[in-house]
Amino acid sequence: MRSTLFRLTPALLALALCCAACIDRTDWASKGPTEEDYSQQVMVLGADVYRDSCAACHGSDGSGSFGPALIGKGHKYSYEEQRRLIERGRRSMPGFGAGLSEEEIEAVLAHIRVGFFAARNN
Ligand code: HEC
Repeated sequence: MRSTLFRLTPALLALALCCAACIDRTDWASKGPTEEDYSQQVMVLGADVYRDSCAACHGSDGSGSFGPALIGKGHKYSYEEQRRLIERGRRSMPGFGAGLSEEEIEAVLAHIRVGFFAARNN
């Protein structure tokens, strides 16, 4: 019994360290837009979709409210990871795979990865 506990100690310590790392203190907003290029038309549609479907929970500038901040998170998550999350949802985040067209989902991805920063400079 004692030796089992002894063997588990490093695992428990690692778990405790991981939990401390769960609190994301990185200033993602300072990392700027990701490097994709989108047409003006896609950017305009993305801003519309974001305002209508996302801003209430993530803030109009992506700085977060009920949901986490999204601005700059294109440097934390890949395009595909963000796309999957938006389509399927996760916990209190509703999935939009059924509610938005593929074109709208691609446009809103353009907005959260690049568009937030364009809006800031205006
Ligand atoms: C009803 C409120 C709500 C709406 C509307 C909503 N979200 Fe979310 N979103 C959340 C919550 C809450 C989370 C955190 C999910 C979790 O804890 O697993 C989240 C997480 C996310 C994440 C992952 C963020 C991260 O850093 O892990 C992305 C990306 C995202 N949402 C994008 C969107 C987009 C794009 C839209 C609009 C199409 C949208 N969300 C609409 C509540 C919402």
